Order: sequence, then C-alpha cells, then structure tokens
Amino acid sequence: MKCILVTGAAGFIGSHTTLVLLNAGYKLYLLDNFSNSSPIALSRVAKLSSLSKKEAQERISIIDGDVRDFSLLDNVFSTSKRNGERINSVIHFAGLKAVGESFEKSLDYWDNNVGGTITLLKVMVKNSCRNIVFSSSATVYRPKNEAALIETDPISPINPYGITKATIEKMLADIGGCQSTASAQQNSSKGWRIACLRYFNPAGAHPSGEIGENPKNIPNNLLPLINQVGIGRNKSLTVFGNDWPTPDGTGIRDYVHVMDIAEGHKAALDILLSSKPQLLIMNLGSGKGTSVLKLIHIFEVTNGIKIPYEIGKRREGDSAISLADPSQALKYLQWEAKRSIEDICRDAWNWQYKNPIGYL
Ligand code: NAD
Ligand code: UD1
Repeated sequence: MKCILVTGAAGFIGSHTTLVLLNAGYKLYLLDNFSNSSPIALSRVAKLSSLSKKEAQERISIIDGDVRDFSLLDNVFSTSKRNGERINSVIHFAGLKAVGESFEKSLDYWDNNVGGTITLLKVMVKNSCRNIVFSSSATVYRPKNEAALIETDPISPINPYGITKATIEKMLADIGGCQSTASAQQNSSKGWRIACLRYFNPAGAHPSGEIGENPKNIPNNLLPLINQVGIGRNKSLTVFGNDWPTPDGTGIRDYVHVMDIAEGHKAALDILLSSKPQLLIMNLGSGKGTSVLKLIHIFEVTNGIKIPYEIGKRREGDSAISLADPSQALKYLQWEAKRSIEDICRDAWNWQYKNPIGYL
C-alpha cells in the first residue's frame, strides 16, 4: 500500500486532498499543528470517505505537531517503517498564507514556510524519501494583465508570502539538480521527484457541505467574504475598485474548485511515482476568468440569495487579471478543472449554510 505524509492536512485544501487520497487507497500520516484549522475537519473526512470506521482508523494516523519539529517528523518516518508501511512521498501544504499578514509578520512567514520546508526536506533526505508535491501559488508570477500566465513567465512576487513560495520552488529545483523554476518539466539528476503546483484561486467545498474553507481569522479571499455576507455576518461586500481595465471594471480571477485542486494532487503524485525523477512545475487553474461583479451575480442566481455590495477603492497589491494557462497540467498530469463556477458558488454556500460558524 502506498504510504504518504500530508502536512497541513486539516486545512482547506489539505482536507479535500486527504479525502481523495483515502478513497484512492493510500495509507496516510496526517500532520497539522491546527494553527489555522480544526481536528474536526479530519474526523469529517474519515466519515465522508468510502471506508468503514475500522478501515479509516487503520489507514489514517493523525499527528498534532509542527512541520518545523525535526525529531517529531523523523519519528513519524520511523513509526511508518516500524509499521511496515514506509512513507515514500510527502504532500506539503503546511504553511501560512495571508498576503496582508505576511507584510506585518514576515519573519513568521520565512520561519513557517521556508524554515518548515527545510526541516521537512532534511528529514526526507535522512529517511531516503525523495518524492514531494508542494503547494505553490500563482502569486509567484509577475502580474501580466493582458494574457494567461504560463509556467515560463517571469517569477517576481510582490509580497513576502509570494517570495517564500518562490524561494521554496528554487530550493526544490536546487536539491533536484535542476536549472531553474521557469520550465514546466525538467529531469532531476539527483533522483528527486518533485511537483510544485501553482494554484490560482481555489474555492468551493466538498458537495456534501461537510468540509470547506474555515479561516480562523477574518477571511481575505472573495468567496469566503461573499459567504459571510450571505450568512449575515457582514452587511455588504466591498468591491475593490471598478476602474480596472476589464470589461466591467472589476478584477478578473481564475477560480478553481477545491475538489479539482485535490484531484490535481493525486494526478501529480501518480505521475511522479510512475515516471523518471523530475521536477514538474504546473499551473492548477481553470483557464477561465470571472470578474468580481460576475461572481456576485452567479452566486446570487445559483443560491437564490442577495449579496449587497458597494464599490470601494482598489486594494494595494491587486492586479486587474490573473488567469492560468492550464495546458501544461493537461499535458503532463492529464488533469484539467472539471467543475464550473456555478459548482464553486453552490458548494461554497452549501458549506457555509450548513456550518454557519465553521467547525465549532
Ligand atoms: P490552510 O491555512 O487552510 O491550511 C494550511 C494548514 O497548515 C492549516 O491546517 C494549518 O493549521 C497548518 N499549518 C500551518 N503551519 C503549520 C506548521 N508549521 N506545522 C504544521 N501545520 C501547519 O490553507 P490552504 O488554503 O489549505 O492552503 C494550503 C497550502 O496551499 C498553503 O501552503 C498555501 O500557501 C497554499 N496556497 C493556498 C491558496 C489558497 O488560496 N487557499 C492559493 C495558493 C497556494
Ligand atoms: C489573493 C492574494 C494572492 C493569493 C490569492 C489566493 C492579495 C493582494 N493577493 O489574491 O497573493 O495567491 O489571494 O489565496 O491579497 N475582492 C473584492 N473584495 C473583497 C475581496 C476581494 O473586490 O473583499 C476582489 C479582489 O480585488 C480580486 C478578487 O476579488 O479582484 C479576488 O480576490 P482574492 O480572493 O483576495 O484573490 P486574489 O486577489 O487573486
């Protein structure tokens, strides 16, 4: 049985990916320090899976711990060996992700994101594990408003969060013996199998409404904020500018369903494990753009509720358009986003409606 360590497993994307991996038959070691998540997410994943309670208990080991803790991680690898089910791959979600906060607490971002990855990689090397899927972000690109972003586009993040992601990508390219991070595929001369997945705007939730996005602090992203207005926690949404160079003047983004993103991880892992050592750097996006006003409209029509909004000033650091060219993921991973923007709006609201205060 294939055995995987998932860091940050209880988070938004981690929980959905864990469900996909469980249903695909993997044995999972799930590590999280629950700094931005709840253990309830993992018990719901187990219930949602196709496994019996007993099977789920056998297939999941939950570790409440920090990815920066070398001894703890090393111990997880040792335990897996003792149990005769050696961890042979890692999916690494754990990290901090709020752009605004990354300016105020830059050192925390370097420590958690870069420091955590260094510790993880050291433990992997010690335990001869050289297969990793890493959560990167579209934030690593220099904004390019006129066309879709491709993997060879310039890397030029403009916030500390994005800089940590670009740094980790470079570090992974280095240990893999690869030239740069500006190519979708390169062979690894050092026996590593690495996928850096650059997510665009993950959104939505599992259609059951049992797991979803559960930010502990005030959300920054658009769909959770629309949900907060829908549920009555906020009176209205502020649209950050209607003077952008887009057809309706509001920002265009590439929203991609979190279940599609989750399946993208399984696709990446399957390809890595069945091919030669290599570094894959892939956009995970739908390739379709939706403006803020269009998203509000689709959300209202799909869910039959009104989302009051007002037009505010542009947010610092925003760009007019962020859109993925997802063709490399189709070519190398045979992955493409299957769910629609309507699915995203329906599932996001279903989760919020069923869990008005999240997992609490
Ligand atoms: P999330 O905050 O919901 O999940 C991250 C998880 O990691 C949380 O459960 C948190 O408790 C855990 N964690 C944080 N620091 C840790 C540490 N030091 N040790 C152990 N666990 C730790 O975020 P998410 O949206 O699921 O994002 C997952 C990954 O994807 C992150 O690395 C994020 O930067 C990246 N990403 C997210 C988005 C997005 O819009 N959600 C976009 C691009 C990239
Ligand atoms: C933000 C981050 C980006 C990160 C991405 C996914 C910033 C500047 N960028 O990008 O680094 O990779 O999330 O986590 O924070 N909007 C409103 N009103 C709101 C909130 C958002 O109008 O209250 C607009 C934004 O201006 C944007 C769109 O909605 O046009 C999407 O915003 P958001 O969900 O924050 O995603 P990104 O801007 O892509």
